[in-house]
Amino acid sequence: MREYTIGQISRLLNVKPHILRYWEKELPFLSPKKNLGGRRVYSEIDLQLLYRIRYLIHEKGYTLSGAGKRVWEDLNSSDPNLLGKVRYLRGELIRLLDIIDEGRKKEAMTDTIKLFREKGQEHLFRYWERRDERQRERLIRDLNRLDLEMLGILQKRLKEEKKKKPKLDPIDFVSIDESRRDIDALRAGKDFIRAGKTAFLTVAGGQGSRLGFEGPKGMFPISPIRGASLFQIFSEKVMAARKIYGVPMPWLIMTSILNYEDTVNYFEENAFFGLEENDIYFFKQDVLPSLYPDGRLVLAPDGGLFKNPNGHGGVIEALKRSGMLDMLNERGIEELFYFQVDNPLVQVPDPLFLGWHLKYGSEMSTKVIEKAYPEEKLGSIGLIDGKPGVIEYSDLDLDLKLARNEDGRLLYSHGSIAVHILNVDFLRKQEGKLPYHLAFKSVKTLKPTDTGADIIEEEAVKFEMFLFDAIPFARNPLFFETSRREEFSPLKNREGVDSIETCIRGQIEKYASWLERVGTRVRRDEKGMSVHKIEISPLFALDLEVLKTKRNEIPKEINNETLII
Ligand code: UTP
Repeated sequence: MREYTIGQISRLLNVKPHILRYWEKELPFLSPKKNLGGRRVYSEIDLQLLYRIRYLIHEKGYTLSGAGKRVWEDLNSSDPNLLGKVRYLRGELIRLLDIIDEGRKKEAMTDTIKLFREKGQEHLFRYWERRDERQRERLIRDLNRLDLEMLGILQKRLKEEKKKKPKLDPIDFVSIDESRRDIDALRAGKDFIRAGKTAFLTVAGGQGSRLGFEGPKGMFPISPIRGASLFQIFSEKVMAARKIYGVPMPWLIMTSILNYEDTVNYFEENAFFGLEENDIYFFKQDVLPSLYPDGRLVLAPDGGLFKNPNGHGGVIEALKRSGMLDMLNERGIEELFYFQVDNPLVQVPDPLFLGWHLKYGSEMSTKVIEKAYPEEKLGSIGLIDGKPGVIEYSDLDLDLKLARNEDGRLLYSHGSIAVHILNVDFLRKQEGKLPYHLAFKSVKTLKPTDTGADIIEEEAVKFEMFLFDAIPFARNPLFFETSRREEFSPLKNREGVDSIETCIRGQIEKYASWLERVGTRVRRDEKGMSVHKIEISPLFALDLEVLKTKRNEIPKEINNETLII
């Protein structure tokens, strides 16, 4: 009978020797005899058993132990003579199938390559034969999964002339003074939350490239004293809300395919920060292929296609596809408090905002703040071709940015901070896709060469949908003013504007002002900034209203770094 070495077996099965050794360790009945030199010697029967195991794992999706169990049951269920023949025949059959399969795979690969060559994507296959096998397989897999219709849409979008500028007009919003006067709205908002009809929605699928942090941005430590992460801060807000309103409030977190695992692991490692695991729902947004400005696909450093998450506007589609909207319906949730992962100051839940949203019969409401200066990089609110919406910073010409009313106020004085209330039925009704915005970015790509491959930086176009583009489709969209100090200090960059430093400072100043409003003396420097670091955990006080009820537990004067938890 023929005998084989481990190297021969490895080549026949196309399974690496260390994997074979691992299989043998886990499944003792797979023990080939050893020769005098201690090397494994495989018989025909050993080979057949291994073929069977490989077939069950690779083709049928069994786990190793499941495949072992199945083969063991087969071995024990037949008469020994018959078994020998059956095993032999089965082995032969599997081998033949494998050969056919291999042939089919090659054919399919050739078809894929042919198709994309014809589509002007020849560059993807340069130095094909010299490329690592895994890289080749990854690319073919990605190309087979690529939605060709979508590729066509993105390529067309690249060629589109900059659209004719829309007609812009200023729009009204509910001011802070006006909203605060409405006690009924506040009460209605609170009742609605107490009835268990609201949930939180965080978009956390971005790549945080400007911050340059390894891992999901939500894991970034940002609170002034404890260094609590963004996710921890939000978890505490959710927990505090649950206590105040006495109802479970689900928290939906959108990640991308790229940061899903890291995000979920982080929550698991931190025992979900004390929240009910069943009240946190992670779901994934889609990705889109990035393209060179001329429409060609881009190779990612791992040899597959370069893709990017499809923007925070991808949340609508992702909520539907993942079954989240059905879950929300089943749980009786009607309105969502939406916020981005990078703004620790966000006030959620906000019953006053909700009360106004309900009173207006709005399907999508947006918080706005007054711009710090006319050219601030905030999307301005306005009427776009007669419909309420957000005008991208770059779409508002300088003369409009600077334009003023007769009373001297900026015409486009307010911008969105990407804090919304979204009506669940409204989300369900959205059929079409939102428009794609183009971002030209420098990205790391794979450049195959005749000696291997280099990783280089090249300009590519990322396509993203923006959630604010849904505003014009909503019934009675509401713009609701809030204060920057209270509610907006995003973490975008390492340094400079909207950076780690400004985000920490933003938190300190918010807490300092809260303390002053309940009668505590805060020492301030010549620029009016709090001299000492201050941090208040949302678990101690979710908002100013709660803080007021805890006056007696708060120091009367801040003389050093103060953490209130
Ligand atoms: P940004 O537009 O600031 O992008 O996202 P970013 O990815 O966080 O950072 P940069 O531009 O790479 O530096 C605003 C919010 O939208 C989410 C982000 O996680 C953040 O909460 N987002 C962005 C998504 O959920 N998905 C996306 O595809 C893009």
